[in-house]
Order: sequence, then structure tokens, then C-alpha cells
Amino acid sequence: MKNPEGGLPPIIYLIGFMGAGKSTVGRRLAERLGWSFLDLDEEIEKREGMSIAAIFRELGEGCFRSIEARELERANSAGDSVIALGGGAFCSTRNQEIVARTGISVWLDVSIETVWKRCAGEGSRPLFGSREEMAKLLEHRRPFYLKASIRVDAAASVDTVVDEILDFLGFRG
Ligand code: S3P
Repeated sequence: MKNPEGGLPPIIYLIGFMGAGKSTVGRRLAERLGWSFLDLDEEIEKREGMSIAAIFRELGEGCFRSIEARELERANSAGDSVIALGGGAFCSTRNQEIVARTGISVWLDVSIETVWKRCAGEGSRPLFGSREEMAKLLEHRRPFYLKASIRVDAAASVDTVVDEILDFLGFRG
């Protein structure tokens, strides 16, 4: 699908908390647009040859954040593409600037209830803790997520969320 009249920046960044569905929605959105899809965490794992969990465990969160920022710089040279960011990536001013300069940001907004339902007991996310800790982290991050260009309620089905994003961006109707 081509950019609508007037043209959008070539990259759609999906941001939001763990469990918001950034990767699933991102893949479907890219498919619908005929654009490429990139998952920043997957790129990090490929480049480092380690899982995100192992990076946190062996190198620490500070090191993960530097790798994440570097990978985001690399990723933004991709052409028309949808990029899913990890839940903490948009909380850095530097990363926000990269996103604003190179694309449009879409916040997939989810409640703590949805996060808990989707992620509790999964065990693969190094920062995932108790429900209280997650609620606190979500509140802490909300002001950063609010800086996104667009907010979409991500509790709905994947196709509904994708339709809403396409509508917002003027790709439909
Ligand atoms: C993180 C979320 C994870 C991953 C890393 C840190 C976070 O990605 O980047 O574990 O800080 O919220 P998802 O949001 O895809 O789970």
C-alpha cells in the first residue's frame, strides 16, 4: 500500500508496555501495507547472539539500553517499514528523538488487567514482576507513552487494532 497523499514518514514505530501486542500487531500491519517488519528485540538478539533475558542477566539493564539505542539507530535506515520497539525503548529522550525524526509513533495502550492476563506466567520477560510492580511501572511509563503521535486502544483483536491504525494514518476510507 502506498503512503497516502501528502506522505507519511516512512517508518511506523509501535510503542507501549509489555503485552501490548506490538510484535503481533506490527507483523499484521506490515503485511497489510506490504511493508517490511522489524522487531527491535529480535534484531538485538540476532546481533548479540544472546536472548534478551541473557543480556539482562549477564550484562545488566544499562548495557541492554545502550544496545537497544544503537540498534534503533541502525533500524531507522530501513525504507517503508513497521518497527516494534521493546516496552522501555520509548522512555529515553534520545530514542524519542530518533523516532520523531524518522517516523510516526503509535502507542498501543493497554490496561494493567490486559498486561497481566497476557503476560503473567510467561517467564520470558526479565523485567516482569508482581502485578503491583507492573502497575507501578506502567504508571511510571505512561507520561513517556503519551508523547506518541497516535494512541490506540490495544485491548481489541489484532485486526481491529490494525484497522484503527490504518484509519488514523489515512490509509483507508
Ligand atoms: C522491556 C520489554 C521487552 C524487552 C525487554 C525490556 C521493557 O519487550 O525489550 O525485556 O523495558 O519493558 P516487550 O515490550 O516486547 O516485552
